[in-house]
Amino acid sequence: MPVGAIDHLLADSLAEIAAEIDAAFDALLPVPADSRARLVEAMRYATIGGGKRVRPLLLASVAAIYGVDREAAIRAGAAIEAIHVYSLIHDDLPCMDDDAMRHGKPTLHLAFDEATAVLAGDALHDFAFEVLADPATSSDPFVQIELVRTLGRASGLQGMAGGQMMDLVAETAEFDLQTVTRLQQLKTGALLGAAVEMGAILGHVAPEGRTHLRGYARDAGLAFQIADDLIDHEGDAARAGKAVGKDAAAGKATFVSLLGADRAREQARLLVDQAIEHLASHGREADVLRALARYIIERDH
Ligand code: IPE
Ligand code: IPE
Ligand code: MG
Ligand code: MG
Ligand code: MG
Repeated sequence: MPVGAIDHLLADSLAEIAAEIDAAFDALLPVPADSRARLVEAMRYATIGGGKRVRPLLLASVAAIYGVDREAAIRAGAAIEAIHVYSLIHDDLPCMDDDAMRHGKPTLHLAFDEATAVLAGDALHDFAFEVLADPATSSDPFVQIELVRTLGRASGLQGMAGGQMMDLVAETAEFDLQTVTRLQQLKTGALLGAAVEMGAILGHVAPEGRTHLRGYARDAGLAFQIADDLIDHEGDAARAGKAVGKDAAAGKATFVSLLGADRAREQARLLVDQAIEHLASHGREADVLRALARYIIERDH
């Protein structure tokens, strides 16, 4: 497909998934007529009209290759996005990155208050697993439990939370490139990998049939975090919708601090090429995944 057509395909796919994920959160998070309303308002503030929806798009694009019902893919996409949003709510708290802007608006703890932000993060975490274990996502209990296990592993000690701990330690420790790579694989790569894996699980793809998808996710995931570090290093806060220049100010070890911006960008490009090579066994049905990999390093937000 010519490059321009791929760009259109990606723009359409991003717009479509954003609308579907917004609609899913709107339907799944009705505001109760009691004193929990403030908590649900906070959950809706953080989830509806949020970020780029890269994880749901990864999940839904893999699911589409294997003929999964769209509604099931959107529900699982909302689940993984809920984990992502919860991680950002807690990441922005004063005890972590202490940030004032997220997705171009005040962070949740400033728009509401810290206690509500902690609870909204907790409740979004639980929401994710409830949605995955619901028969409306899959009537197959084996699929349900594999979805739950995959997202649980990618969110906790073996994934995002473990990586966030290493990221905090990276402000004071002398991490080498290997350790920073491991940090990023846990902090960011694990959830991106889970998105791809969950699409394959919904498609009843056996683990041995997922090797190429895991390779794609590993390389694209690392490139994704390098791009995030580059945005922090040289990006524009208004475009990014969040503060920039924070990693250097915190003295944090990142790909950019260890390699310099030019080599980090070159590394990200190589990783994206490698990610796309993993999709060689697929035809046009994997074009969104290819376009998404390229977008990862071209994005400015
Ligand atoms: C930002 O992730 C934080 C990281 C894990 C690097 P995204 O760039 O996917 O965040 P949004 O939701 O699209 O803003
Ligand atoms: C946070 O990483 C990644 C999470 C798992 C929440 P960052 O702290 O670099 O994310 P931004 O730059 O605030 O989005
Ligand atoms: Mg952080
Ligand atoms: Mg942060
Ligand atoms: Mg960052």
